[in-house]
Amino acid sequence: MRKNKNHNVVLVGAQWGDEGKGKIIDLLAQKSDYIVRYQGGNNAGHTVCFDNEKIVLHLIPSGILHPKKICVIGNGVVIDLEAFFEEIKMLAQNGVSVKGRLFVSDRAHVIFPYHKLIDQLREDEKGSKKIGTTKKGIGPCYADKANRLGIRVVDLMNPHVFRERLKIVLAEKNLMLKKIFNHAPFSFDEIHRTYSRLRKRIAPYVRNTSLLLDQAARSGKKILFEGAQGTLLDVDYGTYPYVTSSNASAGGAIIGTGMSAARIDEVIGVVKAYTTRVGEGPFPTEFPPQLMAHIRERGEEYGATTGRPRRCGWFDALVTRHSVLVNGLSEIVVMKLDVLDDLPKIKICVAYKFRGRRYRDFPSDIEVLEGARPIYEEHPGWQSSTKFAKKWSELPPNARKYLKRLEQLLQVPISIVSVGSERSQTIFINGRYQ
Ligand code: IMP
Repeated sequence: MRKNKNHNVVLVGAQWGDEGKGKIIDLLAQKSDYIVRYQGGNNAGHTVCFDNEKIVLHLIPSGILHPKKICVIGNGVVIDLEAFFEEIKMLAQNGVSVKGRLFVSDRAHVIFPYHKLIDQLREDEKGSKKIGTTKKGIGPCYADKANRLGIRVVDLMNPHVFRERLKIVLAEKNLMLKKIFNHAPFSFDEIHRTYSRLRKRIAPYVRNTSLLLDQAARSGKKILFEGAQGTLLDVDYGTYPYVTSSNASAGGAIIGTGMSAARIDEVIGVVKAYTTRVGEGPFPTEFPPQLMAHIRERGEEYGATTGRPRRCGWFDALVTRHSVLVNGLSEIVVMKLDVLDDLPKIKICVAYKFRGRRYRDFPSDIEVLEGARPIYEEHPGWQSSTKFAKKWSELPPNARKYLKRLEQLLQVPISIVSVGSERSQTIFINGRYQ
């Protein structure tokens, strides 16, 4: 990290999520004062090695595992309060106290039980056209926010406002449940009672976090913005409609926290050395079944939130170049290089072909994406272990050539290469971040 600079960094997933951001956030958190989540909710799953154990955080910033770091859940996040307290309990069981260093934006929207139910009912009704959501109520909660039917933390904090808002919102939800889904209604009293109890528990965490972060930035504190999901799941820049409902790309950090764009110094993108996605939607470089099973086992490619097997495929330079562009990435972190260790040949997708036309830039048309035939470059594998490499020069020559080719295609330098889940299995290129 650049020295003597008030360094505020946004870390984003540059593919379809699950790139391994948890490990990198954990590394960068050591050099940061504040760690901030700006979008998504408990659909995320950030896995971090802590005291030789794997801890998965869904909602609370992964930086919380470092004592003394301040963690913030920004206004762009949607909060399932029950999941929030479950996570605090899990952290306490692991000896991590959040007292006085975890804050929640008063403007963040709250996920209610009807959001989760509607998420599930919609998916069930869509059948084979489903999105494959995590069923955590994320989409319906963001939809209510845009529809001006949401309930924010600050609304919950005010008993009068909460009662009035819930009355209006629940009347509409119950009508929808009855007319569209033929489902039993929710009881106003039950939700009102449960969330009035939660109001008392959430109160100590609630702040105007834009103000908090502005004060932090003015006093020279270093802020790390922890993106969840990935750019290709971004509601604007992803493979719409097979996306999540928030801005997972770097722009989300501005809107989702209230921090000025002028205060962001750098945007770092995280990619896997190959590609994965969970849920439905186009994936041009998806592996055939045998290779899929092989890489899934080697890479332990199962969703950290839902346990679903991840779909796996070759590295797609169109996907990642698109991410470089919409995020303004200044550097790239490559994860899980070791998963490719035993392959004799490794492919990189450099273009798509659809109905006789060649695409070099990532298309937005869903029909093109669904029918795209990937054009590959083929590279010889290195067929030796990279797991113990500690520096660039210790990587096999073919692994270095592969990484150099990625850099060339993306036109962005690679700053870190990860070859295993341990903190020690990390190669820092040119001494960055050390
Ligand atoms: P939702 O965010 O639950 O609405 O799900 C929408 C899409 O985003 C689905 O394809 C999910 O599998 C995907 N998704 C949501 N969160 C994550 C994540 O943290 N990692 C990877 N995929 C995710």
